[in-house]
Amino acid sequence: MKFRVTVLCDNSVGLVSGTLGEHGFSALVEWDGGSLLFDTGGGDTLVHNATRLNRDLRKVSGVALSHGHYDHTGGLRQFLQLAGRKAIYAHPALFTPRYRVKDTGEALSIGIPFGEAYLRGIGAEFDFCEGSREIAPAIFLTGNVPRRNSFETGDSGMFCDSSGCHADPLADDQSLVIVAEKGLVLLLGCCHAGVINTIEAARELTGVERVQAVIGGTHLGFCTAQQLAATMNALRSMRVGKIYGAHCTGFHAAARMQQELAGQFHPAMVGTSVEIK
Ligand SMILES: [Fe+2]
Ligand SMILES: [Fe+2]
Repeated sequence: MKFRVTVLCDNSVGLVSGTLGEHGFSALVEWDGGSLLFDTGGGDTLVHNATRLNRDLRKVSGVALSHGHYDHTGGLRQFLQLAGRKAIYAHPALFTPRYRVKDTGEALSIGIPFGEAYLRGIGAEFDFCEGSREIAPAIFLTGNVPRRNSFETGDSGMFCDSSGCHADPLADDQSLVIVAEKGLVLLLGCCHAGVINTIEAARELTGVERVQAVIGGTHLGFCTAQQLAATMNALRSMRVGKIYGAHCTGFHAAARMQQELAGQFHPAMVGTSVEIK
């Protein structure tokens, strides 16, 4: 079966004129006979960009959410107002309060910007699950990703309270896995669990070793130089085919991967469309 992944929301826009960027990520997965949305961006660009890219969001069978941050869930309202009743595949921790607390003590609320009852009222049919599951033919959600290696240490500054006392483990962070003929394709939201941990979870879940591509936010824009170097080494040794870096990959990590993983790295902006076999 063939699939197509098209980036609908990202921090940057590509070559399709009239598309808009915002801090966030969303991608549409299409196959013969169906489609599914992965994340919804921050809320200002999803419907606009989908229209501009000639994609009808009313046709998707549901939405898979990577985690509860606003930049992946903020488009839910506009989406549901357009598309009506839809399945929303998410982790039960989706509505946990979340904050970024700066060194100065300033706290920014970064959780999902809507309440559960409100979203249900406009058509959300939540389907919560902590573990892995198949949500469409050959398309899986990883569920909880075990944090196994020593170098993917995550992002400090994320908390479940505005006073910065309770660190947010981001246990709900999950990725989407497409099992295609030539190997796995992973769609990452923010990938707070770490790209390498996530690839290992996807391999374990599917029993497929070959990873033909990862697409989305790698969170390498928020990590140390040591973590970036260790991640690039692991990507090489795991023989990951292509890295379509978006969103929280950040300019610095993207530039390094562009230079050091020559031919493998591609920036994935709004409008980037990848055919998968
Ligand atoms: Fe994000
Ligand atoms: Fe996030």
